[in-house]
Amino acid sequence: MHMIPKTVATAVVALALGSGLAVAETRLDPMAALAGRPAGSDPLDPMTALRARADTAETAEGNAELGGLPDGEGAEDTYYQCVACHSTEIIKQQRVTDHRWDELWTWMVEAQGMVEPEPDTKALILTYLKRNFSSER
Ligand code: HEC
Repeated sequence: MHMIPKTVATAVVALALGSGLAVAETRLDPMAALAGRPAGSDPLDPMTALRARADTAETAEGNAELGGLPDGEGAEDTYYQCVACHSTEIIKQQRVTDHRWDELWTWMVEAQGMVEPEPDTKALILTYLKRNFSSER
C-alpha cells in the first residue's frame, strides 16, 4: 500500500499556498513607473517613465516604514494622507516651489477627490512637504 501520510499531504498543500503568496508579492506597483516624472509631465509619454527610473536611487534613504519619507514632524501624517492613492515615490521626487505645493494640494482635493483633513493636519503636512521637497531650500 502506498498511502501518502496525512502530515506530508498537509505540508505539500501548505507549501503550494506559501509559494502562491510569494508570487503575488512580486507584482509590480503600476505607479512605480510614473514615480519621479517631472511635475506636469505627460504620464503617457514613455520617456517619462524611463527618466524617472534613473533618478530613484538618489532618494532611496528615508524611513522605510513610511515609504522612504524622511523622518520629521508631519512625516507620518503625510504618509497616511497620501498613500491612499499612490506611492510615496511620486512625492519624494518632487522639487517644486512652496506655491506649487499649495496648488498640488488643491488639485489633489478638487480633481482627485482627496479628503481634506483637519486644518491643523493640513498645515502640518504642507509644512512637511515644503521643508523636505521644495525647490526653495
Ligand atoms: C484621492 C487620491 C489621492 C490622494 C489622497 C493623493 N493624491 Fe496625489 N495624485 C493623485 C492622482 C490620481 C495623481 C495623478 C497620477 C498620475 O498622473 O499618474 C496624483 C499625483 C500627484 C503628484 C504628481 C503631480 C504632477 O504634477 O505630476 C504629486 C506630487 C502628488 N500627487 C502628491 C500628493 C500628496 C503630497 C498627497 C498627500 C497630501 C497626495 N498626493 C494625495 C491622487 C491622490
